[in-house]
Amino acid sequence: MKIVLFGYGNVGRAVARLIEVRRSYLERIGLYPKLVAVADSSGVAINPRGLDYSKLEEVKQKKGSVGFYPDCGKIGVKAIEIISDRLADADILIEVTPTNIVDGEPGLTHIREALKAGLHVITANKGPLALAMPSLLELARYTGREIMFSGTVGGGTPFIRFAEKCLIGDLILGLEGVLNGTCNYILSSMEGGLSFEEALKKAQRLGYAEADPSMDIDGWDTACKIVILAVHILGIRITLRDVYVRGIRDVTEKDLAEALRRGSTIKLIGSVDSMGKATVIPIEIPRSSPLAVPGNLNALTFHVEDLGSITVVGKGAGGVETAHAILKDLIELKARLRSRSMAT
Ligand code: HSE
Repeated sequence: MKIVLFGYGNVGRAVARLIEVRRSYLERIGLYPKLVAVADSSGVAINPRGLDYSKLEEVKQKKGSVGFYPDCGKIGVKAIEIISDRLADADILIEVTPTNIVDGEPGLTHIREALKAGLHVITANKGPLALAMPSLLELARYTGREIMFSGTVGGGTPFIRFAEKCLIGDLILGLEGVLNGTCNYILSSMEGGLSFEEALKKAQRLGYAEADPSMDIDGWDTACKIVILAVHILGIRITLRDVYVRGIRDVTEKDLAEALRRGSTIKLIGSVDSMGKATVIPIEIPRSSPLAVPGNLNALTFHVEDLGSITVVGKGAGGVETAHAILKDLIELKARLRSRSMAT
């Protein structure tokens, strides 16, 4: 598996590290991943024989960019040139550049061009999917390549794969959940006496928040996740424009204290029903609700026709958590490719 990795930031570095530390396990199950090209916003490093993780980290830490990688680095070369100018021979793009919900770039072009060039894509970038998921899925079908995105929702907790694998045979009618670790951390910390600003700063330090934290606190990150779940799990063709979004800026410590006295709490809840009604709103819910999860946890309730409601709870935000989702996608991709080759 020859891999190009676009976005050597918090998540990208965690992905490279995880591939390295899990290498012997991966080899035991028949996977031989090789990072042949890595790009960050300042440059690229390319080596057909594979890049060395410790050297990538050394140049990133000491000089700020993988473009300084000895002999194989190039400062000023853009990630997309690796694909458009065929600078590396690869089969898989891992795309983890920061989410941009204005035009989805640069991730949207990276994903489109990679699919057109015959690469499979694994991404944790929510912007391209929230803005153009139906057309990206169509492009992947047309080119016969896989696009996998379980790291876009839930990070360390496999919400998407749970729905794909464990709810088959029943009808998912709708879903609702706490899908933004930063907001949940802020609201939980405000209940514990911190101010909004202090809690946000802590969430940023802990690496939960997006590069632009208004993505989190104004509800857009949750809205992106709701769109991805609606399209993929419920089969509803919506985009970000179809979601009613209100974030947590107006929730005060007083609101939280009053909710607490009533035996409730306030959570930023994203939801979508089978008619395609999609919302992101801070809602007061009973403390006994399965969605009343503390800290930066995520929780997602699936409302299912025969089996009622099922809630999955676990870690969402974070580089390591998202890297695990990407590793799972890599393993699943290999399994899908194996079963394709057995079918032919
Ligand atoms: N900023 C996001 C969050 C990261 O806080 O949940 C994971 O998508």
